[in-house]
Amino acid sequence: MITFSNGEQVEFLTGSGALAFDGRGWIWEYPLRWVGLLNPKEFTIVVKTLTLRPRKGNLRWYAPWRAVRLIPGGAVNAVGLTNPGIDWWIRTCYPRVQRMRLQTVVSVYPESIEEAKVFAEKLHSLSIAAVELNASCPNVPHRETDLVEHVRALALALRESGHPLIVKVGYDQPYVEIAQAVEGVAEAIHAINTVPWRLVYPDRPSPLARLGGGGVSGVPIRPFVREAVQRLHAHARLPIIAGGGITTLQDLEELWELGARAFSIGTLFLRAPWMPNRLVRAWRARYPERSCPTATVSAYDT
Ligand SMILES: Cc1cc2nc3c(=O)[nH]c(=O)nc-3n(C[C@H](O)[C@H](O)[C@H](O)COP(=O)(O)O)c2cc1C
Repeated sequence: MITFSNGEQVEFLTGSGALAFDGRGWIWEYPLRWVGLLNPKEFTIVVKTLTLRPRKGNLRWYAPWRAVRLIPGGAVNAVGLTNPGIDWWIRTCYPRVQRMRLQTVVSVYPESIEEAKVFAEKLHSLSIAAVELNASCPNVPHRETDLVEHVRALALALRESGHPLIVKVGYDQPYVEIAQAVEGVAEAIHAINTVPWRLVYPDRPSPLARLGGGGVSGVPIRPFVREAVQRLHAHARLPIIAGGGITTLQDLEELWELGARAFSIGTLFLRAPWMPNRLVRAWRARYPERSCPTATVSAYDT
């Protein structure tokens, strides 16, 4: 468990996108929620990433398979941050997450420092647990130069929201340098986002080749996550939220041993939406002392 400066504690988070924009999940998951097999309240809900203005991306509701495909053990997606924008979220989803009393983290993708400042203003008065800076979506272009300084500047601007900040990094980024650069600004580092197809399967064409190959999630990225968590634990001081391919109690145990203190679950919701809650309960039953508030690590203890 990680305790933020505002007293909010996070232990199991949904990967951004896993339970849509408001924690109710995608439409096909509703029946599971109604019968209690999927309970969003056991998670910190990380909202699907929002941009300042609506963004078309590649996801079309009438043909989702064009941008998301299942592969053995996981998925590949090239959604490209399709979303209706932050104003829509504040108007439509925020009242709902409040009503449902969900602990909520808003994931944002500002394209510039100016945009990050506008996000901070819009988020300031909301009652949320934290803001997550998605600095790592592999399906949108990123700066080739000054990435570390740019992420730090975005983080500083977003901190003006007054909420704790999580920075989500990708395997294909200088994630250790980013984590070091946002120390004292962010309160946790979240590793990792989906991994570009070409890094996971260098010799195999992606089913989403026409959209740039897409990002791989689920079991195929387990080794990448372990490596990232190990390196972050060795070289940076921020508490680590680990995610990528978590499907079993053993995954949680291994990531904990490597230094993670909170976990995020994404693709498992897509492939077996009744499993994540079972996993959370199994972890809490096996390791009650690890979930207890006295075992916390906060950005300010380090
Ligand atoms: C269909 C899909 C959409 C996603 N959308 C986002 C997103 O909007 N923002 C983000 O930060 N991560 C997004 N992700 C990445 C997940 O949140 C998660 O970090 C990644 O899939 C690794 O975890 P997993 O293996 O448990 O899925 C998405 C993943 C998938 C499969």
